[in-house]
Amino acid sequence: MKEVATLDRLKTGVVGLDEIIEGGLIRGDIHLLAGGPGSGKTVLAANVAYNAAIAGENVVYATFEESADYFRRNAKLLGLELASLEKEGKLAIIDLEALKGQQLETNVSTLIQATKDSKGSLLVIDSVTALLLACETQFEMRTFMKSVYSSLKSEHITTILTGSLTNGAKIGLEGFMTDSVMLLENWEDGVQMKTRFVVLKMRGTNHSRKYHSVVFGPKFAISRF
Ligand SMILES: Nc1ncnc2c1ncn2[C@@H]1O[C@H](COP(=O)(O)OP(=O)(O)OP(=O)(O)O)[C@@H](O)[C@H]1O
Ligand SMILES: [Mg+2]
Repeated sequence: MKEVATLDRLKTGVVGLDEIIEGGLIRGDIHLLAGGPGSGKTVLAANVAYNAAIAGENVVYATFEESADYFRRNAKLLGLELASLEKEGKLAIIDLEALKGQQLETNVSTLIQATKDSKGSLLVIDSVTALLLACETQFEMRTFMKSVYSSLKSEHITTILTGSLTNGAKIGLEGFMTDSVMLLENWEDGVQMKTRFVVLKMRGTNHSRKYHSVVFGPKFAISRF
């Protein structure tokens, strides 16, 4: 049993993360990485994308709130050199802003097609909140999330969705639909702001239920308190 679980997982390569989720993210599952502003969603997702591409996976990273160039620049500042991976065809960065005005379903189909074209094994959508904001009603949001979930699942694409939480907000319906929810939280420790990480759920995984400390730069890491 243990061996099958290991084979089916995509290693994140993030220091401290794989060991608390039984070796990595279950392939073909939809993983939500939620958190408030500046809690490290993009930094964590970029690290996973980079590590996976370096390890030989083909990765598609769709960015909405930041342009592709801005994302490349910030990644470089974190020590993640994406340009060479793009040249080698291991990583494709898609600027979702460029698809603005299209139907939501078209955006998602474009991403799925791009992932299939590049024989991609990992798709990151940063952020799904930006897409959901285009929905006018709760019903539309639910229908859209359902269709995103089922199309990604049927293509067996391992996906990381980032989800933005405003201060104090609870995770919305996207958290109930996805296979896993990882939460990044900023919190006050006296006069200092710190960030912690917890796995709220991960279907099929005996994951840690503890809060872990997040270390930003020079190497992003998750560690014990
Ligand atoms: N080069 C760097 N060196 C050290 N820390 C950095 C570096 N780049 C970013 N950070 C840290 O990461 C934080 C931003 O993280 P990130 O952009 O991943 O947040 P986010 O959760 O995606 O936010 P948003 O909701 O705005 O998209 C910064 O506020 C800073 O604390
Ligand atoms: Mg971000």
